[in-house]
Amino acid sequence: MNDVIKLIKNRKSVRVFEDRKIPEEIKEEILNAAFEAPSAGAMMLYSIIEITDNDLKEKLSVLCDNQPFIAKAPFVLIFLADYQRWYDAYSYAECKPRKPGEGDILLACADAIIASQNTVIAAESFGIGSCYIGDILENCEEVRKILDLPDYVIPAAMVVYGYPTDAQK
Ligand SMILES: Cc1cc2nc3c(=O)[nH]c(=O)nc-3n(C[C@H](O)[C@H](O)[C@H](O)COP(=O)(O)O)c2cc1C
Repeated sequence: MNDVIKLIKNRKSVRVFEDRKIPEEIKEEILNAAFEAPSAGAMMLYSIIEITDNDLKEKLSVLCDNQPFIAKAPFVLIFLADYQRWYDAYSYAECKPRKPGEGDILLACADAIIASQNTVIAAESFGIGSCYIGDILENCEEVRKILDLPDYVIPAAMVVYGYPTDAQK
């Protein structure tokens, strides 16, 4: 079995983290792994935001079905399906773009989610555990309000990351 397959097989969701920051250069590697993901037409129809504000983390952890480990995670990313950037770019270039339909938004979701999984695997390679939080989608409208998202942007995935405690390992 090669190392990548081993890593994929050994990965498990992690929900209890050591109280330890993730170095900035490793965060950058994890983010760069997202940007290497394939995307429809190479358009990268997503944006990634890091949630650093503790009050906002707390709010999200309550909103997302009261899961306190979200607020305790040292690294929290939300992957946004983002058609707005292209719509704005086309509008700026006076191309008169049509409004995105459901299919366009689904395509953007696919891009965002594929990018997010790259970060999960990249994090794992650094010994950093992660867990997806599905409630970000279930509470989509509320999350859109909290994050003040534009019309053609919706949350596609949230992933929390951190060094697993020994018990979690
Ligand atoms: C889209 C998605 C949403 C998830 N949402 C949550 C969640 O809100 N809370 C949680 O503790 N785990 C969540 N998980 C993690 C799953 O429970 C976990 O991946 C599954 O039980 C398989 O376990 P494993 O990841 O350890 O292999 C989610 C996973 C995915 C892919």
